[in-house]
Amino acid sequence: MAKLWAGRFGKETDLEVNDFNSSISFDCRLYKEDITGSMAHAAMLGKQGIIAEEEADKIIEGLKGILKEIEAGKIQFSAEYEDIHMAMEQILTERIGVAGKRLHTARSRNDQVALDMRLYVKKEIGEIKKLVIGFMEELCDSSKKNLDTVMPGYTHLQRAQPVTFGHYMMAYANMMKRDVIRLDNCLEGMDDMPLGSGALASTTYPIDRDFVREQLGFARVTDNSLDGVSDRDYCVELCSALSILMMHLSRFSEEIIAWCSWEFKFVELDDAFSTGSSIMPQKKNPDVCELVRGKTGRVYGSLFTLLTVLKGIPLAYNKDMQEDKEAVFDAIDTVKQCLRVLTPMFATMELCRENMKKAALKGFINATDCADYLTKKGMPFRDAYKTVGQLVAECVKQDKSLMDLTLDEYREHSGLFDEDIYDAIDLKTCVRGRNVTGGPSPEEVSRQIAVIERFIVTVQTA
Ligand code: ARG
Repeated sequence: MAKLWAGRFGKETDLEVNDFNSSISFDCRLYKEDITGSMAHAAMLGKQGIIAEEEADKIIEGLKGILKEIEAGKIQFSAEYEDIHMAMEQILTERIGVAGKRLHTARSRNDQVALDMRLYVKKEIGEIKKLVIGFMEELCDSSKKNLDTVMPGYTHLQRAQPVTFGHYMMAYANMMKRDVIRLDNCLEGMDDMPLGSGALASTTYPIDRDFVREQLGFARVTDNSLDGVSDRDYCVELCSALSILMMHLSRFSEEIIAWCSWEFKFVELDDAFSTGSSIMPQKKNPDVCELVRGKTGRVYGSLFTLLTVLKGIPLAYNKDMQEDKEAVFDAIDTVKQCLRVLTPMFATMELCRENMKKAALKGFINATDCADYLTKKGMPFRDAYKTVGQLVAECVKQDKSLMDLTLDEYREHSGLFDEDIYDAIDLKTCVRGRNVTGGPSPEEVSRQIAVIERFIVTVQTA
């Protein structure tokens, strides 16, 4: 196939170079953005009298037809096309003739690809946000049902203090909230329309960039043509936001993996979301979680691909930048896939509340409350801490919990102990008592849920 740029060349491109140079195998997914951008550009060319109105109309009609055919699966992009932009122009020209050859007036593939990527990323951020919100809704639902489900909270993976499953899930909801905000920030920062930057130095035609901006739904136009064609900050920002999101999903997955083990057995995954072993008949594995944890590496990889590709290139466009696409596409695909399996896996997961409670009853997670009991009766906290430490040591020796000690045993350590110690160190009391903002008390977690639910509504109605 003759190249659109064949004019100054005396030879055909080497076949290996052709493959090496071509991006159509992956940038064909930008077909819709490319067509949308071209329609706006053609309309502007017609309106400004840069091409005839009838020709602009012909281009727009032609592009609409091509879009329909692509979506009906009737157009396959052959590997011979260099990229989606060349493919579109060639297919259009085959169909509508000479008007097709006027479409690229006052435009370069450099500002064209910059536009297509922005349109694509904008759309995908919207999709990813919806999936994150879907996960947050499940977290809120589960929290509501588990305001009283006491479980141990950990530090250093050692049982530390009592929390509830609801409280735990709202921690993840807060992380997801920040992820949505990061995605929104990325969206806000990239809302500049680059078309009109040309190859690098804009154009001498009397174009109307603001008209194109409005047609395409951007907030602003890019303010410098060199920057307009070479800015990929938003790709880096997106992959950075997605990397953080994946880091959260990976931590979440890691918890579920641990909780599925017989060592914890806090949760039971639905059979539809678990997998077996080819040799060990008893196995039921949390592969979904492990893959989410593993795929986090791919998304980090995309972020590093972009940072590395961009770090050495001078202004303005350089072909290195074609490498942005697979990195961005893979990060987007991976995150969407992970959220699409993780959300229903979580929604169908059963909780083993009795096991959570059993774990909470062991490990002295009410020791702080025992010390606070003495402190509230006037003992300095540091002394109370020491007294309870000695009580714990005694319990460990006798294989007992603090609840099992008799009042006499308590009193041997401090006369401040009374019958009400048993209520003070009851796990329900310990949880209910932590009623400050951020704490695990049912009342407080209900407030946290309401905050997240309000946030979700704001995002959905924005
Ligand atoms: N396929 C190219 C890319 O993705 C499009 C822009 C090519 N521009 C050029 N002057 N070679 O970056």
